[in-house]
Amino acid sequence: MDTVLSGIRPTGNLHLGNYFGALRNFITMQNENNCYFFIADYHSLTTHPNPKDLARNVRQVLIEYLAAGLDPEKSTIYVQSDVPEVVELYLFLNMNAYLGELERATSFKDKVRQQPQNVNAGLLTYPTLMAADILIHRATKVPVGKDQAQHLEMTRTFANRFNRMYEVDYFPEPQAYNFGKELVKIPGLNGSGKMGKSEGEGNAIYLADEPEAIRKKVMRAVTDSGPTVPNQEKPDAIKNLFQLMSIVSDPETVKFFDEQYNSCQIRYGDMKKQLAEDMIKFVQPYSEKIKEIAADEEYLKKVMLMGKEKAQASASKTIKEVREIIGFCNN
Ligand code: TYM
Repeated sequence: MDTVLSGIRPTGNLHLGNYFGALRNFITMQNENNCYFFIADYHSLTTHPNPKDLARNVRQVLIEYLAAGLDPEKSTIYVQSDVPEVVELYLFLNMNAYLGELERATSFKDKVRQQPQNVNAGLLTYPTLMAADILIHRATKVPVGKDQAQHLEMTRTFANRFNRMYEVDYFPEPQAYNFGKELVKIPGLNGSGKMGKSEGEGNAIYLADEPEAIRKKVMRAVTDSGPTVPNQEKPDAIKNLFQLMSIVSDPETVKFFDEQYNSCQIRYGDMKKQLAEDMIKFVQPYSEKIKEIAADEEYLKKVMLMGKEKAQASASKTIKEVREIIGFCNN
């Protein structure tokens, strides 16, 4: 049995990118493995959220994890800050993480470009905190989207470096997990390569979205003036629409519009209408469940407490062993 760990930062509602990146096949995953699903609230502090927003967003991710179908009896669902052992491991890992490698992380370089006024130490050491999340449970599989592949590579580097330094075989090498398939990058609706909250208004479809909101966003999705030559290559925005269609529509539908495109007969309006309806069909069971679970405060509290206890048990065992390996004699 593998130990699987999946995490999402609490920055609002979950979108289809999160769903297909971090939760894909979670039903099989949680039946066959020892799974941890957590809410990365320490990570979200790099953007200085106000306390009310932070609390609300943590609760919202918990609700949406449950609405997506995670089972708190089978998996450990917890909030990162309920397990402060993570912070201790983060400190240990930071002692052997080098400035050069942290500065070279693509996500760090992106942030420096996007928010030059807030290049804080938390951003620089974001990959070591993420490594601590994974290694604290000695997880071997990590379901993530493509954007997190480099962080996982860095986690392997940190784990191996620790093992080498202390001449132990303690931390396993965690692997990205997408059931043998390539890691996915779900595109957004505004022509941007990635679905995400910070990619602009109207770019993401959320599990909590109402049908009308989905129709509006999809109908506004970026397209072009249409193909003029049979079988011509699709520009990025059109490829994105087809990729989105391939995750929510049946293969026949995708094939139909693909043929329409290749014969230059496509009407993007029709394609978008179909895409919107298929997205609504996909999202609706989740959005209904989200409302239902949000109303059950007792249940949410119970789940959080259960997760905290299970996650702490695993984390405190690791920290105790790591302290021994490092040579702290006051364990
Ligand atoms: P975050 O909160 O940005 O995203 C959560 C998960 O969703 C995936 N994802 C996507 N996958 C495919 N296409 C997209 N458009 C898309 N957008 C988001 C992300 O790859 C991720 O799997 N650093 C992480 C949170 C984290 C974590 C961890 C993850 C902290 N510690 C340990 C795994 C293990 C993050 O910011 O994800």
